[in-house]
Amino acid sequence: MKKYFVIGNPIDHSLSPKLHNYWLTKNNIKAVYDRKKINKGDIQSVISQVKEKKINGINVTVPFKKAVIPYLDQLSPEAEQTQSVNTIILSNDNLVGHNTDIAGFTKAIEELNFNIQGKKIFILGAGGVVPSIIFALKKMNVSEIIISNRTKKKAEDLKSQFHSLKIVDWGEITDFDVIINATSLGLNGETINLNFSKSINNKLFYDVIYNPVETNFLKEAKKLGSKTENGKLMFVYQAFEAFKIWHGIEPKINSEVLEILNND
Ligand code: ATR
Repeated sequence: MKKYFVIGNPIDHSLSPKLHNYWLTKNNIKAVYDRKKINKGDIQSVISQVKEKKINGINVTVPFKKAVIPYLDQLSPEAEQTQSVNTIILSNDNLVGHNTDIAGFTKAIEELNFNIQGKKIFILGAGGVVPSIIFALKKMNVSEIIISNRTKKKAEDLKSQFHSLKIVDWGEITDFDVIINATSLGLNGETINLNFSKSINNKLFYDVIYNPVETNFLKEAKKLGSKTENGKLMFVYQAFEAFKIWHGIEPKINSEVLEILNND
């Protein structure tokens, strides 16, 4: 029986096992997908099990998307350019790291019926998924990307990777067409303390968080008449791309799939 894992810390909240196991069953693939909470010191031994074919594939989540890179033989161009890996496969005896968060975000935005080209984007947060979001946004030809993070140094580190980024201090607000919450604020009911009430008509408020379905950030935006979207489709599409890499099959995304992710 083939074995797949998502590794991270914390990992209890991950809905990847639910989604992948559903697709595995639907496609009659004899495999099982589980979660594994690890520490940084465990990365090498977990990845070596892929080389030894004891594990057939790994998804990587926060905070190890960069930390796994030294243990891999090869990176996809997207993983290389973002220095972020969320999917590992053994290919011709080489450990290859892919980044499917980029495709996940891109497809989620494309489904929105919102033309993002030429738009001004304001990103809150500078954590694990942000390089992928920036990479995707640049490919979609947005006009400007502005970033704000509580720890400014992390925003500055991103700027050394993506030179055209603009940085504003945490707590300050700038003009934008699209605002993306990529912080963990909202996972536990927190509110983001920024005053959006001025000019937010016809803006898009996007939250990478999908559980809860509607964070306070999105609730506020909706009240003020903005378009809102959570990170569920991004999550589903990154999983879709990983499934394709491992099994060579495009799994179905339908209302049943979206429904099973609501039952937590
Ligand atoms: P990591 O930082 O390990 O990659 P993450 O979940 O990907 O983890 O990112 C968490 C993000 O939420 C970071 O941008 C973090 O800001 P810091 O870089 O300053 O830590 C942000 N965040 C978490 N709690 C926050 C809070 N109470 N106020 C503001 N930002 C917060």
